[in-house]
Amino acid sequence: MCGIIGLTGSSDALRILREGLETLEYRGYDSAGIAIVDRDGSGITRHRSAEQGHAIADLGDPSLVWPVSPGAGIGHTRWATHGAPTHDNAHPHADCTGAISVVHNGIIENHRELAAALVAEGHSMSSATDTEVVAHLIEREHLRGLAPADAVRSAVRELRGDFALCIVLADEPDLLVAARRTSPLIIGTGPSVGYVASDIAALLPMTRELFTLGDDEVAEVRPNEIRVTDLEGGLVELSPLRVTWDVRAAQKGGYDDFMTKEIHEQPSAVAETLLGRFADDGTTDFEELGLTRSQLAAFHRVVFLACGSSYHAALSASLATEHFARVPASAEVASEFRYRGAVIGPETLVVVVSQSGESVDTLHAMREAKLQGATTVAVTNVVGSVMAREADAVLYTRAGPEIGVASTKCHLAQIALLEAFALHLAIARGVIDAASLTRAGAALIETPRLITRCLDKIEEYFSVAQRYADVNDFYFLGRRIGYPIALEGALKLKELAYVRAEAYPAGEMKHGPIALIEPGAIVVVVATRTTLWEKVMANVEEMRARGATIIAVAEEGDDETESLVDAVLSVPATMEFCSPIIDVVPLQCFAYAIARARGNDPDRPRNLAKVVTVE
Ligand code: G6P
Repeated sequence: MCGIIGLTGSSDALRILREGLETLEYRGYDSAGIAIVDRDGSGITRHRSAEQGHAIADLGDPSLVWPVSPGAGIGHTRWATHGAPTHDNAHPHADCTGAISVVHNGIIENHRELAAALVAEGHSMSSATDTEVVAHLIEREHLRGLAPADAVRSAVRELRGDFALCIVLADEPDLLVAARRTSPLIIGTGPSVGYVASDIAALLPMTRELFTLGDDEVAEVRPNEIRVTDLEGGLVELSPLRVTWDVRAAQKGGYDDFMTKEIHEQPSAVAETLLGRFADDGTTDFEELGLTRSQLAAFHRVVFLACGSSYHAALSASLATEHFARVPASAEVASEFRYRGAVIGPETLVVVVSQSGESVDTLHAMREAKLQGATTVAVTNVVGSVMAREADAVLYTRAGPEIGVASTKCHLAQIALLEAFALHLAIARGVIDAASLTRAGAALIETPRLITRCLDKIEEYFSVAQRYADVNDFYFLGRRIGYPIALEGALKLKELAYVRAEAYPAGEMKHGPIALIEPGAIVVVVATRTTLWEKVMANVEEMRARGATIIAVAEEGDDETESLVDAVLSVPATMEFCSPIIDVVPLQCFAYAIARARGNDPDRPRNLAKVVTVE
C-alpha cells in the first residue's frame, strides 16, 4: 500500500524514479509524485499529479522543469488513507521552507496531536495527510541544529504507528535518509549509486545487491556509503537479501496485463512450489521448518491467519489439515484475530499466510500469537519480507513476483504448499497410511497439469462469462472444500468487475439469503464430484425452483450435472482436497472476462492496492 522509491548518485534520476514508480504502481495508484534535490544548490524540485490513470506518465511531461544536475531523489505512488486522492495530498510532502521532502507508506497514528503541536509552534500544514507532520518534525529538529539523520531519528521517536519513510534535504543534496517501523523498505547499492524502495521488484532492473532495513532503524544512503543506525544512534550491520527472481519475471512478457500473465503462470507456480516436497516413497520434506516430526506432533492445534485471497487459501488448508492430520485446525481473518483476545499458547502452531509477507493485519496477528507463546510459521512468496524475518520458521511459495492486484498464482501456490504441509503433519502425527499418502501426494503433483488443462479452456470460460457481463448480483455457493472456492470466486468478481457477489455455504442459503432469490438471480455453484455433490445439487434445486439461473463449476464429461444447470465451467477431475487448486481457475477467468467486458482494468481495480500495509 503506497510505493516508495529513492535514489542517489545517478545523473538519470528522473527516468529511474519514474520507472521504479511504474513497477510499484500495484501498491497504489491514487496519485504520484517525485522530488529531486539540485546539486547546484537551487533546492528541491517537486512535481505531483493526482490524475487517475496517468499520474506517473504526467511526471514525465517535457514541460516540467527538473534539476539539470540531480542529487538524491524520491518518488511515491499513493493509495489514499488520510486525505482524498488530490494533488495537495499527493506525496512527496514538504516542510514550511520546501527544503525537506518526505515520502511515506503506512499510517502515523498520532498525526493529529503532532500536527496540532507543530501548528501551535508556527508551522503551516498544506495537506490533509498524516505524512506531512514528518516533514515538519524533521524541519523543527534540523532547525535546532541536528544533522539530517539525527533530525530524522528524533522525529521518528515521536511517531506512533507503522511507517516506511524516505527523505531528501536541500542542505545535503546527495543524501537519502530512510527509516521504517513495520512497513517494508529495501536498500540497494550499485557502482556509486544508492537506492531505497518498498520492494525488490522496483530495484531489480538496477541491482541485485540488496539489503533489508530493520524496525526502528535509520539509513543514511550516499552514493558510495550506506550507514545504518538504531534510534539511539548505535551502528547496525546491514543484512543482505538473497534474491532469486529475475527482472523479466516482474514484467508483462507480451501479455495484455499482469493478471493474464499470472493466470498463465499458475501451472509453473504450483509446480515450483511443490518441487522437492515429496520423495518417491510419498514422504514429505519440510526440513527448512527446523521442527522435528515429534515437535510437530506435539501441537494440539493449528491456527491459520490471513487476509483476502490468502484467507481463502488458509480456509482450504484448515479443512485439509483437519482431514489428513486429524488435529483441530481453523482459519481466521487476521484483522479480527488480533483484537479478539484469542486463547492460544505454546501448544498452538500458528501459520500466517501472506503472499507479500507484509499485510499489516496478518503481521500484527502473528506478533500477537508470538507474544502468547505460539510457534509461528510464515507462508509467503517474498524472500526477506517482514513476516519471513519475524516468524519462527518460513515456508516459501515459489510463484515468482505477483504484480496483479487480485491474487491468482500465489493463491494456488499457497493452497498447494499448505496441502503438502497438511500431509507432512499427518505423517508426523502417524495418522496417515502409506497408500493414502501416496494417493494424495500424486494428486497434488498432478495439479499443475490439470491447471494447464483448465487454461486450454480459457475461451470457453470467457464465452460463458460474456453472457452474464451485465448482471449486477451473483451468489456463489459451495460446501466443505467447495466453500472457500466459492468465497474466492465471489471475491474475484467483486474486486475486478465491481458487482455484488455473495458467497455462502450452500446449505446456509435457506436460513435467510434464499429470500433474495427470484427469476434473474445468478447462482454460481461449485458442483464437482466431491462427497457432498448430491447435497450441493439438492441446494441447487432449491435455487432453480425459485427461478435462479445456475452456472456450475463441474467436471468434464459430467452430463448429469450439466443437465441440471444452465451453464457449465468445466474442469478436470481431481482428488477432493486438490479441487481448490483447480476449480478456482475458471472463476478467475470468469471474473476477468466480466471485468474486461465492463471496461475495467484488471491490474488496477478501483480502491484497491496489492499490499495492504495499513489497518
Ligand atoms: C490485498 C490484495 C489481495 C490479497 C490480500 C492479502 O487485499 O488485493 O489479493 O489476497 O491483500 O495479501 P497478502 O499479501 O497478505 O497475501
